[in-house]
Amino acid sequence: MQSNLSRTLKVSRVYGERALNRKEDFKTYNQSSAYASPWSLRQRVLMLAWGFVWTVFCAWTPKPFNRWRLIWLRLFGMKIYGTPFVHQAARIQIPWNLTMHDRACLGDGAFAYSLGEIEIFEDATVAQQAYLCTGTHKFNEPSRPLQTGKITVGRSAFIGARAFVMPGVTIGEGAIVGACSLITRHVDPHTTVAGNPAHLIRKLV
Ligand SMILES: CC(C)(COP(=O)(O)OP(=O)(O)OC[C@H]1O[C@@H](n2cnc3c(N)ncnc32)[C@H](O)[C@@H]1OP(=O)(O)O)[C@@H](O)C(=O)NCCC(=O)NCCS
Repeated sequence: MQSNLSRTLKVSRVYGERALNRKEDFKTYNQSSAYASPWSLRQRVLMLAWGFVWTVFCAWTPKPFNRWRLIWLRLFGMKIYGTPFVHQAARIQIPWNLTMHDRACLGDGAFAYSLGEIEIFEDATVAQQAYLCTGTHKFNEPSRPLQTGKITVGRSAFIGARAFVMPGVTIGEGAIVGACSLITRHVDPHTTVAGNPAHLIRKLV
C-alpha cells in the first residue's frame, strides 16, 4: 500500500521541466512511410563511410591516441573546441551532429546517438556506457516519422555509468546524474538526480 505521505514525497522530489513538453525544440523529419529513410543518399553514404573509418582507424587505438581520433572526428564534421577526450570504445552515430568542448569526456562504451545535435561543454563527463539518445518518433502519425531533440550537457556536469538521457534534455552546469538513471526532464544546474525514473537527490549549492 502506497501511503499519501510517500506519494507526496515522490512528487516533491520531481526535478526540472519535462523535455518532451517543449515540442518546438524538436525537429520532425518528412517520411512517407515508416520504412522510408529520413536521410538523403549523401548522408547515408557518409554514415556508412564514418562507420568504416571509426572501425578501421580508431576503435582499436590505445586510450592515449585521443588526438588521432579527434582528427578523424573533425574530418567527419564534429565541432571541437580545445581538446575533449573521446574513448576508443565510445560510439558516435553521426559525428557532424556532435560538439565537444575542452576537456569534455565521452567515456568507455558511451553512446552519443546523435541523430540530432549533442553538445557537451567544458569538463563535463559522460561515463561508461551512458546513452545520449537524441532520436524518437512521432507515434501519433502512421508513418511514425523520426523526431530529434538536442541534448546539452552543461559545463562540469557528470553523467553516471549506464544512464539514459532522452531527446531534448539539457543537463545543467555542474549537475550529477546517478548511474543507471533514466533522464526525461531537464536537470537543473548543481543538482544530483538519480533513479528510474530519476528524482532529485540533493541540491549541490
Ligand atoms: C548519484 C550519486 C552521485 C549519488 O551519490 P551521493 O550524493 O553520495 O548519494 P548517496 O549515496 O548518499 O545516496 C542518496 C540516495 O540516493 C540513492 N541513489 C544513489 N545513487 C543512485 C542511483 N544511481 N540510482 C538510484 N538511486 C541512487 C541512494 O540509494 C540513496 O537513497 P536513500 O536516501 O533512499 O537511501 C552516486 O550514487 C552515483 O550514481 N555515482 C555515479 C557512479 C558511476 O557512474 N560510476 C562510474 C563512473 S566513475
